Amino acid sequence: MTNLYTDKRTLVTGGLGFIGSNLAIRLVKLGADVEIFDALIPDMGGNKFNIEPVKKDVKVTIGDLRDEGKIAKAVRGKDIIFNLAGTLSHIDSMENPFSDLDINCRAQLQLLEACKKLNRGVKIIYAGTRNQYGKAKYLPVDENHPLEPTDINGVNAIAGEKYHLMYDKVYGIGAVSLRMTNTFGPRHQMKHSKQGVLNWFLRQIIDGETIKLMGGGGQIRDINYIDDVVRALILAGASKNANGQVYNLGGSALSLLEFSKKAINILGRGNTRNIDFPKDRKNIEVGDYIADYKKITKDLGWEPKTSIDEAIKKTFGYYKRYKKYYW
Ligand SMILES: NC(=O)c1ccc[n+]([C@@H]2O[C@H](COP(=O)([O-])OP(=O)(O)OC[C@H]3O[C@@H](n4cnc5c(N)ncnc54)[C@H](O)[C@@H]3O)[C@@H](O)[C@H]2O)c1
Repeated sequence: MTNLYTDKRTLVTGGLGFIGSNLAIRLVKLGADVEIFDALIPDMGGNKFNIEPVKKDVKVTIGDLRDEGKIAKAVRGKDIIFNLAGTLSHIDSMENPFSDLDINCRAQLQLLEACKKLNRGVKIIYAGTRNQYGKAKYLPVDENHPLEPTDINGVNAIAGEKYHLMYDKVYGIGAVSLRMTNTFGPRHQMKHSKQGVLNWFLRQIIDGETIKLMGGGGQIRDINYIDDVVRALILAGASKNANGQVYNLGGSALSLLEFSKKAINILGRGNTRNIDFPKDRKNIEVGDYIADYKKITKDLGWEPKTSIDEAIKKTFGYYKRYKKYYW
């Protein structure tokens, strides 16, 4: 892998956010030339401190994918684009459907159009989501499972993915989608729960607050640690055979209650309380989700490696050290 990325010209959209910044740090270690492109959209996970370890080694462009001129300049000459600029809040997408549409569809098209006009030889890795499936009709969910989202974000993520795969087929741009599941770890925003509850639960334990588990927290999520997700992105970026493909990621299938208990045990304090689902959440809740990720294991040799206990310890350690940049 080291050789494959040496001097590769890469663009990480959403690179100041959670997944993008962890990826950018890894790419620098692999010897890649890295440009980060991020709009720092309020309430999303963008944080300049995220790239502290590599801030002198990467180029940072503050810009929006929807800015035709800026994105055109950024895609020129790149070998690989990791496209992590997207929204993921289910609840925000229902409250603000046009904003979700604009970022997950129009912005994606703007990026793809720039590649079509200026750089058809580029490879793009799209950040898909389990949210595209909606309520599971069977478990584990494989890539052939019907796509029937329960919220606007899931619908728009399907379109975002389809645009990428269509540009792969029609224009020869190499595109691959990784359908990610609940991911947690260092560099995730810690200010609210709307972009994923796992890091939020960890914050509540650190702050001595009670974790509120909607519906008792029995719902299963397939949980990934950030380093494993970064490795999947790196592998997908390096494999020509992945072009035109869709891959599920998955990790440890645990209920939210089980995850909370593990974290409470590891820190040695904390508690949970059951609450009813608020109506707006109940209507879009998908129930249990377990991913079948055999396809990416077979094609790219990827599988998750970090145990949940180790992942929780590493995450607590990070925020203990850098709390002031996230609270
Ligand atoms: N975190 C997860 O558990 C998870 C799960 C499934 C899918 N994903 C997908 O992965 C991607 C990254 O997620 P994340 O957790 O790192 O989110 P994040 O909010 O931490 O990072 C996203 C970054 O993208 C930037 N951005 C958004 N729209 C932009 C635009 N139009 N132009 C430029 N920058 C823009 C934001 O400013 C932010 O810094 C998203 O597309 C998300 O849907 C994440």
